[in-house]
Amino acid sequence: MNHFKNRSFLKECDFTPRELQVLIDFAQHLKALKQAHVPHPYLQGKNIALLFEKTSTRTRSAFTVAATDLGAHPEFLGKNDIQFGQKESTADTAKVLGSMFDAIEYRGFAQTTVEALAANSGVPVWNGLTDEWHPTQMIADFLTLQEHFGQLKGLTLAYFGDGRSNMGNSLLVTAVMLGVNIHIGAPEALWPSQAVIQLAQGYAKQAGSQVLLTADAKQAAQGADAVYTDVWISMGEAVDPAERIQQLLPYQVNAELIAATGKDPLIMHCLPAYHDHDTVVGQQLGEQFGLAALEITDEVFTSPRSVVFEEAANRMPAIKAIMAATLGDPFLPDYLFD
Ligand code: CP
Ligand code: NVA
Repeated sequence: MNHFKNRSFLKECDFTPRELQVLIDFAQHLKALKQAHVPHPYLQGKNIALLFEKTSTRTRSAFTVAATDLGAHPEFLGKNDIQFGQKESTADTAKVLGSMFDAIEYRGFAQTTVEALAANSGVPVWNGLTDEWHPTQMIADFLTLQEHFGQLKGLTLAYFGDGRSNMGNSLLVTAVMLGVNIHIGAPEALWPSQAVIQLAQGYAKQAGSQVLLTADAKQAAQGADAVYTDVWISMGEAVDPAERIQQLLPYQVNAELIAATGKDPLIMHCLPAYHDHDTVVGQQLGEQFGLAALEITDEVFTSPRSVVFEEAANRMPAIKAIMAATLGDPFLPDYLFD
């Protein structure tokens, strides 16, 4: 029996900790199949809608390539090309898409939108990022950690930056579900909501993992096997850049912060990143505030322990595993879930 069949993946806690681990292992397996040129057409004849209200490089590419490798047809539906939002409600759009497509990926703003797509379409829906969660990124990131450390249980991950963003929420909850200790280094104003913290604490208790939330960046760094950061202003956030930069500069991932781990940690970032002036925004904010980089220095970003592009590459097998498990019939024996 396929435990995942016809289920949506809207946030990490839709699945059990064991199911998340199975998805990570399945992603690793699918990655090996592709590397060995072994075909894996689990979704032959399926049609998949890729609905994007926000921009994307990795998520869109990963869904497109993964769907194609699985024998499915992906169709990109950008927010400016369809009636969604402007002339047609989420519920009506969901009914139409669900009548033609076998599954829907959605990237956008409100979590309630992706929930409404799932409730009204009658087909599996996958969250390609909302303001609250980024679950497909989690499968790729914890796969990357597993590849480097052999296993996840007992590792310590330290995240710095906006703790109540999609990445802050997702890393906090996913880490503890998988038995990884999580440290969040962020100003108290940017900590995750009480509801998210409580959710994480519940899983931490089950898994025996630790949660540390602190405004002291050095304390958060201590003992980290991996250091993670993300942009300081997320897509669609209307905040004063000067205020946010001032709030988060003490949490910049730089050589000093890495030294405070007392280890030689992996360096992680979901990307895109402002590590130099080679982007329009990086240059503009960098020059305005006299900074060579924002959330991560170029030195750390390009250091030998940086796995940021491995994470990006792992988005593809991770998304492939999610799609194949929920829409196809891969052989995932019961004992995997014990
Ligand atoms: N990490 C990530 O989701 O990248 P994109 O915004 O390019 O999809
Ligand atoms: N927090 C970032 C993640 C991008 C992948 C954003 O939402 O813009």
